[in-house]
Amino acid sequence: MTTFKLNTGASIPAVGFGTWQDVGSQEKAVAEALKAGYRHIDTARIYGTEQAVGNAIRKSGIPREEIFLTTKLWNNKHHPDDVEQALKDSLNDLGLDYVDLYLIHWPVAFKRGEEKFPKGPDGKPATEDIDYVDTYKALEKLVSTGKVKAIGVSNFSKEEIQRVVDNATIPPAVHQLEGHPWLQQRAFADWHKKNGIHVTHYSPFGNQNELYSREGKIGRLIEDPVLVEIGKKYNKSGAQVALAWAINEGHSVLPKSKTPERIRQNIEGDFKLDEEDLKKIRGIDRKLRFNDSSEDFGYQFFKGLDGASA
Ligand SMILES: NC(=O)c1ccc[n+]([C@@H]2O[C@H](COP(=O)([O-])OP(=O)(O)OC[C@H]3O[C@@H](n4cnc5c(N)ncnc54)[C@H](OP(=O)(O)O)[C@@H]3O)[C@@H](O)[C@H]2O)c1
Repeated sequence: MTTFKLNTGASIPAVGFGTWQDVGSQEKAVAEALKAGYRHIDTARIYGTEQAVGNAIRKSGIPREEIFLTTKLWNNKHHPDDVEQALKDSLNDLGLDYVDLYLIHWPVAFKRGEEKFPKGPDGKPATEDIDYVDTYKALEKLVSTGKVKAIGVSNFSKEEIQRVVDNATIPPAVHQLEGHPWLQQRAFADWHKKNGIHVTHYSPFGNQNELYSREGKIGRLIEDPVLVEIGKKYNKSGAQVALAWAINEGHSVLPKSKTPERIRQNIEGDFKLDEEDLKKIRGIDRKLRFNDSSEDFGYQFFKGLDGASA
């Protein structure tokens, strides 16, 4: 299995396992993934899958230090005074002593409290004026406790992550963002490389996630003829080629599946692609972003990035 080195010195396995959605299936799915050889699991407070992930990891008998585990701080816990307790709650649900990576899930702060999607009197999302740089500084404090081995961000624009880098004592180790052959973000990827920040691609199959459906108007990424054709050469599926593209570009990927056969297939997406094939895939970047919650979250995300809604 390919691994990448983080700026902390730790290794992150190239193929991680996504656990968003299908909460009831996740304990089984994660158990299956660990059996298939995955050693990198991605969860988040908001997914409601921390208990399932923790159960599967603990029951697997695999030594904890052999697994790279990520979770994320949700938007209602951005106030610096709330961050330590938020991590405790996550670790408590996971039933584990530490996570390998703790991310700020989104740059927006929601109203403090227990409500995950607080609304104002107008029915719109209730946000708070908390600077994500202050939230990040609260994450930095967790590193010395040993309960988080590395910290980072998710869904930040270039300007936003630049502000974090400029103000950080501990530079972000990882930026988790949407990435796949239809949203390659190569200039942004280069910026991360220059700054020593590893990029993890979420939704590596783009519009396979049902929530992202655009009524079938644009076809399915994993059926893109370029990916399928390249796959024939290596005896791989379009889905596997999509994963291999990202890994060959230096990114880790987080395919999600509740289907045992697909779980096993996706970890075989870690293989070497010839330069000519990488070049062909670079030609299918449609700059299509499927996950843009700007309206739902009351905050304009991804300013200046490919595929942003504004
Ligand atoms: N940081 C963030 O804001 C953020 C946002 C989105 C996602 N993520 C992370 O990234 C992970 C992956 O993203 P995602 O869940 O949006 O989407 P994804 O992994 O791109 O796609 C998942 C969908 O593809 C299907 N699928 C999986 N393998 C397949 C295969 N080999 N052939 C055909 N279909 C296949 C799955 O179906 P079945 O499950 O039915 O098999 C599921 O419907 C998430 O689970 C989460 O951990 C993070």
